[in-house]
Amino acid sequence: MTADFVHGGNVYEAARTSGRASNRFVDFSASINPLGPSPVAVRALRHSLPQLIHYPDPDCVTLRLALAERWRLASDQIVVGNGSSELIHLLPRALGIRHALLIGPTFSEYARAVALAGGKVSYLHARRSEDYRPPLELVLQAVRRSRRPVDTIFLCNPNSPTGQAVPAESVRKLVQAAARRRLRVVVDETFVEYCADRSVLCDARRSANLLVLRSFTKFYAMPALRLGYLVGAAPLIQLIRSLQPPWSVNMPAQAYAVAALGDRRYVGRSLAYMQRERTSFVMNLMALPGVRVYPSEANFLLLELPASRSARVCAATLARQGLLIRDCSSVPGLNRRTVRVAVRRLVQNRRLTAALRQWLGGQA
Ligand SMILES: Cc1ncc(COP(=O)(O)O)c(C=O)c1O
Repeated sequence: MTADFVHGGNVYEAARTSGRASNRFVDFSASINPLGPSPVAVRALRHSLPQLIHYPDPDCVTLRLALAERWRLASDQIVVGNGSSELIHLLPRALGIRHALLIGPTFSEYARAVALAGGKVSYLHARRSEDYRPPLELVLQAVRRSRRPVDTIFLCNPNSPTGQAVPAESVRKLVQAAARRRLRVVVDETFVEYCADRSVLCDARRSANLLVLRSFTKFYAMPALRLGYLVGAAPLIQLIRSLQPPWSVNMPAQAYAVAALGDRRYVGRSLAYMQRERTSFVMNLMALPGVRVYPSEANFLLLELPASRSARVCAATLARQGLLIRDCSSVPGLNRRTVRVAVRRLVQNRRLTAALRQWLGGQA
């Protein structure tokens, strides 16, 4: 994997390079619900284990029906994938994307998927001076003037790794303007559970040019099980399903997801916890000398280190102490002092803050 497409969450590589066991790292580099998996869903997963001797349902029927009921969509408007990453990689081939516009700085897999399918990518980057607020007005202008002969726009909302979210109404305007120019809009809502009023998922009932991606791996804390889904117009969804390898979504993941959807208590606890802990983590990080903390509506924070410091050295130093953070210096549109940290449990967040304070107080 090249430097441009590095991801967080690789505790195995950290263990191999450090000699420390993988379970002895505190992983701030992947943004997973700090409360861990839904207990109700873990129970369902355990109950499903006798089914290991059968192939999983290749059509994920029970899960698609549950999702259809939740979002009041038809089940043929939903395709389930082995993580939303699988769907991101099926999209360019299914849609025949030749030129995508990415609203950056953003998740690297959109660019990789489009490039692997032979398409071209252009970026419209959010500005640091605007706290990396996604520049939807500029995108709208570009769409209206058709200056960029793109066929598909990718928007991540809330955006990773910057954390900002745009209002649903602004996304709707973009989708409508794009429809007039026959452009498709893919909205990645992988972290939207933390700001549900920003979601446009239900608009997929009527907007033929809108595709919305969701993941279970972050909010429902199951990155090792893998599960994501995509919602859109039935013919497009059918096309994507036709390209998918059979049985790509395993049975324990399907059982977990169906039960997780019904665990409203877990959702409430997770949201309340994040609201509280993110606020106090932000305040503690803002008190570090020269550190800039960007606004976030998700379960992670983008930080900029002081001018003399580098994200690469910071990440390497903390890794030696068993703390993994995401060095964002290779993300197009961000500078070499930028890192992303997940909001985790209070004690872990305090440990990270203390380690950063110590590093910032020492030699560069
Ligand atoms: C914005 C965004 N979208 C999609 C994904 C892929 O998630 P998964 O394949 O685990 O569903 C990630 C993972 O980091 C992400 O950050």
